[in-house]
Amino acid sequence: MKPKILIIGAGGQIGTVLVESLVKRYGTGAVIASDLKELQTPCASIQLDVLDANKIAQTIEQHQITQIYHLAAILSAKGEQNPIRTWNINMEGLLNVLEAGRTFNLDKIFYPSSIAVFGKATPKVNTPQDAPLVPETVYGISKEAGENWCNYYYKRYGLDVRSLRYPGLIGYQSLAGGGTTDYAVDIFHYAVKNKDYTCFLNKDTRLPMMYMSDAVRATIELMETDKSNIKIRTSYNVSGMSFSPEEIYNEIKKHLPNFNIDYKADYREEIARSWVESINDSQARKDWNWKEQYDLEKMVADMIKHLS
Ligand code: NAD
Ligand code: SER
Repeated sequence: MKPKILIIGAGGQIGTVLVESLVKRYGTGAVIASDLKELQTPCASIQLDVLDANKIAQTIEQHQITQIYHLAAILSAKGEQNPIRTWNINMEGLLNVLEAGRTFNLDKIFYPSSIAVFGKATPKVNTPQDAPLVPETVYGISKEAGENWCNYYYKRYGLDVRSLRYPGLIGYQSLAGGGTTDYAVDIFHYAVKNKDYTCFLNKDTRLPMMYMSDAVRATIELMETDKSNIKIRTSYNVSGMSFSPEEIYNEIKKHLPNFNIDYKADYREEIARSWVESINDSQARKDWNWKEQYDLEKMVADMIKHLS
């Protein structure tokens, strides 16, 4: 049966691209985009606060929704400015979505987790799927708890919730929304305008990253794979590439030789230092054949081509 999809938090960095991809794949009538703010989308869109459980229920009934992609959240850097509000939005939002999924017996739910679930107790290189998780940001704590709630709803109620631990995401279609990895998007917008860039992380701080087209493809592949293939009901490690600010700068310089960078680390450096450098995603490769298409070189060339 053709899905009828509600995307919550569709106006952000990922939602902007995911809406387009889902509309292309399933048709305009199959997707409803929603966000706190008004949206311009190729499909129908509504204003919806994920904290409003009644409106979620009304929307599911009115549009005969069968799947939810729940993207609304406060990200790592912005989250530290108001920890309690971040916890409330991230956790109550997810619980509203899971309860709606259970009550209306929805077919599937997608929940994005993050590399922010990792902490200093986690092995930093080639981080395994079942690594210890002791996150240090409120955002990471909410994502780690969220993963366990997803697992709980699957085990207790049979709700088909699927999840990925996205690395930092980079795309030309949208700006990043308050995370620690935002520098890897911002840097391109400065470079193509011939402006110098001041990076808020140190030059050697390596983080796992992924190109947006890989992230969106991973999301849709995970959601479309047969239920029997899904062995992880918390959240899958997925990997694209890893680099430091200096390494992405050097790659951009190959295209734009006059581009300059300097470094002025702020509180986001501390957050980044608590995360890991590279991800082992062998479980995702084995279970549903995940494979990235973009490495640093290919991603930088594509970003500059589109933004120039
Ligand atoms: P974003 O901040 O760009 O977008 C989030 C959207 O949610 C915004 O449009 C915002 O208006 C909306 N929103 C906020 N509060 C809301 C509410 N109460 N009700 C409805 N909508 C609300 O975030 P993003 O980068 O697109 O991330 C989407 C999801 O992916 C998040 O859950 C995030 O934690 C996760 N994630 C993102 C990254 C990344 O690098 N972008 C990495 C790992 C995980
Ligand atoms: N890119 C996100 C952030 O930096 C990771 O979830 O918050």
